[in-house]
Amino acid sequence: MTPRSFLLTPELADYVRASSEAPDEVAAGLIAETAAMAERGEAPSTMQIAPEQGALMQLLTAALGARTAIEIGTFTGFSALCIARGLPADGSLLCLDISEEWTAVARRHWELAGLSDRIELRLGDALESLRALPAEPTYDLAFVDADKTGYAGYVAELYPRLHPNGVVLLDNTLRDGNVLDPRDESDHALVELNAALAADPRWETVLMPLADGLTMLRKR
Ligand SMILES: C[S@@+](CC[C@H](N)C(=O)[O-])C[C@H]1O[C@@H](n2cnc3c(N)ncnc32)[C@H](O)[C@@H]1O
Repeated sequence: MTPRSFLLTPELADYVRASSEAPDEVAAGLIAETAAMAERGEAPSTMQIAPEQGALMQLLTAALGARTAIEIGTFTGFSALCIARGLPADGSLLCLDISEEWTAVARRHWELAGLSDRIELRLGDALESLRALPAEPTYDLAFVDADKTGYAGYVAELYPRLHPNGVVLLDNTLRDGNVLDPRDESDHALVELNAALAADPRWETVLMPLADGLTMLRKR
């Protein structure tokens, strides 16, 4: 089949970014601080979602009218900042991560953005935190961006906790293109999960070639 998407040159990637909503001062500060941490060897900056993906996630959160959201894999907090900004003032976002150090940076920027009152952070293994939540429809939106071998378990635990029509976003589902030639455990985990989701009638599924691949699932 003739592809309708193509790999972006650095110039086109800049163009895409420049043609999308730009990060404001707080978001730009968070992106810069994360990059500085990476330069000092304190964190891999590539873990942070791309600015245009953040813009999409903020828009989607608002357009879906999501009031309750959950994030698995928060790091220094950029994706959570975008989701929280798309929520109404009385909305809530629960963030799950294991790193106290990286999420301390997140907390500081959420405070600066005036969003601390709508974000709760729980530290610990995300699968255990998820299983400890009531297994009843609670969330309108979920974003999964933690350990790739854990994705299948996260999706399974999210299913009963999502409202009907609830949406799950899964990051890195193209694995840098390695889904066609899986090299490690994480690549294999995503190849298996992508195939399973496409065949699962409980989900409406689309894998979007945005950034490193962003899969959107709607609970039927
Ligand atoms: C790719 S980063 C998340 C990036 C973030 N969404 C952003 O845009 O900045 C992955 C995060 O998942 C967390 N993580 C990895 N394994 C985890 C686990 N088993 N439970 C909870 N968090 C985990 C890591 O601590 C890390 O902060």
